[in-house]
Amino acid sequence: MDRQTPGDPPLTYLDHAASAPMRDEVVEAMAPFASGVFGHPSGHHRQARAARQALEEARDRIAELLGAAPREVVFTSGGTEADNLAVIGVLGAVVRRRPGEPAAVVSSSVEHAAVLEACRVASARLGGVVHERVGVDSQGLFDLTRLAQTLEDLRGDVALVTVMLANNEVGTVQPLGEVVALTRSLAPQAVVHTDAVQAAAWLDVAQVASGVDLVSVSAHKLGGPKGAGALVVREGTAIEPLFVGGGQERERRSGTHDVAGAVGLAAALAAVANEREAESARVGALRDRLADGLLHAVPSVIEVAERKFVLPGHCHLCFSGVDREELVLLLDEAGVCVSAGAACASGALEPSHVLAAMGVPAPIARGSIRFSLGHTTAAEDVERALAVVPEAVARLRG
Ligand SMILES: Cc1ncc(COP(=O)(O)O)c(C=O)c1O
Repeated sequence: MDRQTPGDPPLTYLDHAASAPMRDEVVEAMAPFASGVFGHPSGHHRQARAARQALEEARDRIAELLGAAPREVVFTSGGTEADNLAVIGVLGAVVRRRPGEPAAVVSSSVEHAAVLEACRVASARLGGVVHERVGVDSQGLFDLTRLAQTLEDLRGDVALVTVMLANNEVGTVQPLGEVVALTRSLAPQAVVHTDAVQAAAWLDVAQVASGVDLVSVSAHKLGGPKGAGALVVREGTAIEPLFVGGGQERERRSGTHDVAGAVGLAAALAAVANEREAESARVGALRDRLADGLLHAVPSVIEVAERKFVLPGHCHLCFSGVDREELVLLLDEAGVCVSAGAACASGALEPSHVLAAMGVPAPIARGSIRFSLGHTTAAEDVERALAVVPEAVARLRG
C-alpha cells in the first residue's frame, strides 16, 4: 500500500470524485461497530438489538437527508450495486409482469458504466428489452428534445428512464426536473432513476431528485466508507432483487447488513448536508482559482464544460499534445493525485465515452485530466498544483 514516507513530496490530493478521504466524524461514528457492537442485526438478543437499532437509526437519518421514507431506503454495497439494482431490478419486474412484450430503457449516453453495463446486461438477458441512448450537447447537457422524441417514438414500451444527476468525469449537472416532467407526460408508465453518486456531495438530493422514483448514492464519494451505499426505491415501484436469500431489506436486497457501512453513510451524508452551502462556495472558489490559474499558465488548454453547468469541485481540462496517462504519472511523482478519466478494474484507461459524446475530438481527449476538489482541499493544495502542473505539461510537450 502506498503511504506517505519521509522524503515524499507533500500529498496534494485532487481526486475527491474518485474517492474522498474519510471524515473524522465518520470514522468516529463507525468505530463501535469494528469491535464492541458486532451482532447480526436480524437476530434476537441484546447484541443483535444494538446492531439493529444502529442500522435503523442510520436508515432514518439517510431517509430524511434524501427526502425519502425509511422503508424506501435499500442499503447496498455502494453506487454500482445501487445502479445495477435500479436498472436490472426494474426491468426484471417489468418483464415478469409483461412476458414477451417489448420494454425499453432510455439512458443518457454519458452515464457511469454501472448504469450503461446494467442496461446492456438487462437487454442481453431479459427477452424484449432494448436500450436507447440519448446524447448530450458540447457541455455534457442531456438533449431534452431528443428525449421527447425518443419517448414519443417508444410510447408505452418505455419501462425506465435513467439519467445521472451529475456526471462523474466532467461534473455537468443534468436538467433532472425536465427529464422527470417529460417522462411523466410522454411515458407516464415509466419509472425514473437517477444516479446521484457524484451529485450528493454537492447538491441537496432531497430537493433536486424529489420527483424521481429511484436514487443511487455511495458513501465513499462523500467522505464515508468504500463499499456502502443506498438505493431509494419510492413506495409502489416494482423491483426484483439482485441478491436473494434471507429476505433482508423487505425482500429487495438479501444479505447480512453492513451496519458500520450504513452508519458511515448516514454520518457522511449528514456532514455534507451541514456544510453544503459554505463548502460549495469555498471549494468553488478554489476550483476557479485552479482552473483560471492553469488556463493562464499553460498554453493550449481547453476547459471542456463551462463552470456554470458543473459541480463546484470539478475541474476538467484537456492539455493538447499531452498523453493523460503520462501526465497523471508525472504529477503523482510530484505528489499531486489527479485522475485521467474512467479507469477499469485493471487500472487501464479506456477512451472516454463522455468526452466522445460531447464531441471532443479524440486527439484533444487524449490529454484530459480531472482535478476534483473536496472537503479536504485547502488553498495550499491549489497553489501546489499551480506550481507543479505547468512544469509537468511543459516537460511532456518538450
Ligand atoms: C456517477 C457514478 N456512479 C456510480 C459509481 C460507482 O459507485 P461505487 O464506487 O460506490 O460502486 C461512481 C463511482 O465512480 C460514479 O461516479
